[in-house]
Amino acid sequence: MQKLTDKEFDLFRIYLKEHYGINLSSEKKSLLYSRLRTLVQDLGMNTFEEYYNYMIKDKTGESSKKFIDRMSTNHTFFMREKDHFTYFSQKVLPYLEQKHKNSKDIRIWCAGCSTGEEAYILQILMKEYFENKPGWNTQLLATDVSNKVLNIAYRGVYSKESISVLEKSWQTKYFDEYNESTVIVKKSLKKDVVFSRFNFIEDKFNFKKSFQVIFCRNVMIYFDQDTRNYLIEKFYYATETGGYLFIGHSESLNNTNVNYEYLISSVYKKYDN
Ligand SMILES: C[S@@+](CC[C@H](N)C(=O)[O-])C[C@H]1O[C@@H](n2cnc3c(N)ncnc32)[C@H](O)[C@@H]1O
Repeated sequence: MQKLTDKEFDLFRIYLKEHYGINLSSEKKSLLYSRLRTLVQDLGMNTFEEYYNYMIKDKTGESSKKFIDRMSTNHTFFMREKDHFTYFSQKVLPYLEQKHKNSKDIRIWCAGCSTGEEAYILQILMKEYFENKPGWNTQLLATDVSNKVLNIAYRGVYSKESISVLEKSWQTKYFDEYNESTVIVKKSLKKDVVFSRFNFIEDKFNFKKSFQVIFCRNVMIYFDQDTRNYLIEKFYYATETGGYLFIGHSESLNNTNVNYEYLISSVYKKYDN
């Protein structure tokens, strides 16, 4: 297997940026090498350029999907940035309950959901909140560009250790034992989380109805400022007036042109005009 040349690195780097928005700095050559090496080798290819040519000619898009499965960073865990969930339960849900008391329709998008932990927590919080309030539709859309993580999310099998951060009552109410060391999300929870592939860069934001809340946390850190601006604008127009945007704690809406009001750290509200 030949080394990754600078020219090959640039080919992949540009491709990753153009098709997925992910911005790899020039120091990330060894990362790209280690993530793609076995993919190239398993196809019996000797150079990275061979894989690149094969990928761009593949009209099925399958090799590009394998590529993004390798190149995306999917780290996540239950209750990550916990204060957001507290705010969601204590401020956002009461606001939505009041505002949508006639339609009883809650529309939330967990964008860049990775292996599903964040989406399941949001759905648990809604189930807890609306438990004794019949008639509410709280089905949640959870998307990611990587099929690999979506399959894990959809399967809903997690280690017992990973759910130990959840309240004891939630552990039994929303998960069944799967084997000695793992649990599986109960059907009653899973049925209200719709997992789907969505690429922020290539897919159209033509949703039937606008969202009341969008969570897109720890995704934009991988994008450059122009791509962030593009995405935030898309989120803005996909959100109803008065709706919310949650981003990661290390992210911000600085230098963007849209009319979001800052609420608390990394939580914003689309202005009620
Ligand atoms: C680090 S995870 C964040 C998971 C979760 N939101 C959290 O905060 O823990 C970032 C996710 O963004 C997804 N992602 C990266 N580029 C994307 C794109 N162009 N379209 C959609 N999702 C993308 C990755 O596949 C990855 O699963």
